[in-house]
Amino acid sequence: MKQKRNVQINLMIYLAMKRLLLIMGMGFSLNSVAQAATGALNGKAIFDKNCSVCHSVMPPPKTAPPITPLASHYHQKYSTKKDGVNHLVAYLKSPNKDKAIDPQAITRFGLMPAQPLPDAELRAVAEWVWDQYNPNMGMGRGMGMGMGRGRGMNQ
Ligand code: HEC
Repeated sequence: MKQKRNVQINLMIYLAMKRLLLIMGMGFSLNSVAQAATGALNGKAIFDKNCSVCHSVMPPPKTAPPITPLASHYHQKYSTKKDGVNHLVAYLKSPNKDKAIDPQAITRFGLMPAQPLPDAELRAVAEWVWDQYNPNMGMGRGMGMGMGRGRGMNQ
């Protein structure tokens, strides 16, 4: 009798494990489907391919301002991601001194060439740039970009 119960319990555990594995497996495959769908528009990958030749993410700079301090500038100037990304996309399409978020960067590095990417890719990479903002990294702490303005906590 006792033996039979044990077998039953074992069977229950076995079935539960099997179901768990099945659910986990489904989770994994759904993840990879989602990844494949967005893979073409992965902002970081677009950056690595098209922008990293000039831009580093963190200081020191290559031949253009590093992305993290630029993201800080954007967060300081625009309160919503939508506005920031819209400006960024417009700038990537046609950089010009009047629209630059940091005109000093042009003096130091020259004007960025227009980025001939499809709109969707520009938008994806612009969103990625916006997301590189790190609130723990203030501006003006030896960024080497002449951005000596401090940032308050509430910005
Ligand atoms: C050939 C070098 C080069 C490439 C490639 C390049 N940039 Fe730039 N970028 C610059 C330089 C130089 C500046 C600073 C002068 C300026 O703002 O035009 C700059 C400025 C910027 C700015 C500040 C814009 C603003 O509003 O003032 C952002 C953001 C930026 N780049 C993102 C990107 C992204 C994203 C890519 C890839 C899609 C990219 N850059 C590709 C050289 C480059």
